[in-house]
Amino acid sequence: MGAQWGDEGKGKLIDILSAEYDIVVRATGGANAGHTVYIPDAINPGQTQKFIFHLMPSGVLYPDKIGIIGNGCVVHLPTFFEEVKLLKNNNIDVAGRVFISDRAHLVFEYHKLIDQIQEQQKGKNKVGTTGRGIGPAYMDKISRTGIRAHELKDFERFSIHLRKNVQTLQQIYPELDFDVETEIDYYREILPQITPYITNTTYYLNNAITSSKKLLMEGANGTLLDIDHGTYPYVTSSNASIGGIITGSGISAMKLDSAIGIMKAYCTRVGAGPFPTELENAIGEKMRSTGKEFGSTTGRPRRCGWFDAVASKYSATINGFTAINLTKLDVLDDFETIRIGTKYILAGKELDEFPSSPEQLAEVQVIYEDLPGWKEPIKHCRSFEELPKNAQKYIKRIEELIACPVNFIGVGASRDEMIII
Ligand code: GDP
Ligand code: IMO
Ligand code: MG
Repeated sequence: MGAQWGDEGKGKLIDILSAEYDIVVRATGGANAGHTVYIPDAINPGQTQKFIFHLMPSGVLYPDKIGIIGNGCVVHLPTFFEEVKLLKNNNIDVAGRVFISDRAHLVFEYHKLIDQIQEQQKGKNKVGTTGRGIGPAYMDKISRTGIRAHELKDFERFSIHLRKNVQTLQQIYPELDFDVETEIDYYREILPQITPYITNTTYYLNNAITSSKKLLMEGANGTLLDIDHGTYPYVTSSNASIGGIITGSGISAMKLDSAIGIMKAYCTRVGAGPFPTELENAIGEKMRSTGKEFGSTTGRPRRCGWFDAVASKYSATINGFTAINLTKLDVLDDFETIRIGTKYILAGKELDEFPSSPEQLAEVQVIYEDLPGWKEPIKHCRSFEELPKNAQKYIKRIEELIACPVNFIGVGASRDEMIII
């Protein structure tokens, strides 16, 4: 699970852990996610190959793993097919081992247009969405007008439903200029290709559990972007925290046996909304350039700031993390002093809680603890003991503040650049 505002490095850990699992499941979000995975290049030894997945579970790079896109996801089929094609071009075939839930809602081109219209209407209060139509697709789902994947199997009915939805949405958004027949033609054309991917994944997953298969759930977005627990209204439109994993897959909460929270060794955020430890200065710029902090989905520069222990503790509480993956520690290699935000002060008083109000969160004054940097590269380290003492102290202090063990430490972007404790 992402513990901050997304882009914590979920793709990389999922890819690493997938080796030990049978099935990798996306349960929430849609193509707003961008999960980066670097793997050894099959053709050029010593080089790496980069993949960015928006919908495809990050475990599919292993040829024997099953990938599931669960009922909680909103699926833009053209994006899904682009990913199928990209993998095929790299000799990775996912046919027969990647499935989309028949209950997953579909994202259409008009959802993207409405996403833009809504952002324009919000003006200076815009969310800064990824523009992938996520909010409008979940809006249709919640208002019980959405179109689910299984509907494609009765194409006439699907077409009527699609026409009706566009008609209704054009009444709400008169500026929505959309040719529904072109959209219907596209889906008619891809129908034979898509049908084999659609199945009842709830039964598939529960049957797999009964047969002792191991499931790895791949969080998307981040806890602070969760529609309920995040920094509303500057959030995404689904439950990006642990609850979404359950409702978005149809697996009982009683079946989960661990929850790994992924946190950067600092913080980033794309899009608008409060960010207490943000650094709008040269230090933030240095984090952005060293950490290559540009959105995997939109290419937007990510806002950067110090590690926020108040927000991370809140995140750990909601998700019940049993372990943490602290990622991108190497990005801090060249900082004289490294700060951790440990307390929020509002109107002269320390807050005991992560505030619900975005206005309050925007106003908090952060109290920092300063730790000395290690000023040496750590990319080569493969054990906790190999890390410089100051890096060890930094990790230990984070463990203490969020009351959860750091069992994975990212020291570089590649598959092997991870310390596993
Ligand atoms: P996700 O959405 O959580 O999967 O994260 P993104 O892929 O959007 O962004 C994380 C970025 O950090 C990607 O470019 C990763 O390749 C990179 N990354 C992940 N872990 C590490 C790490 O430990 N060190 C460095 N330097 N880069 C990392
Ligand atoms: P991964 O899985 C970072 C952010 C957007 C915006 C807000 C709402 O790669 O970590 P949306 O398009 O969902 O309506 O946008 O949420 N956002 C993400 N930021 N990583 C993500 O996913 C995100 N998914 C959504 O930038 O602020
Ligand atoms: Mg991302």
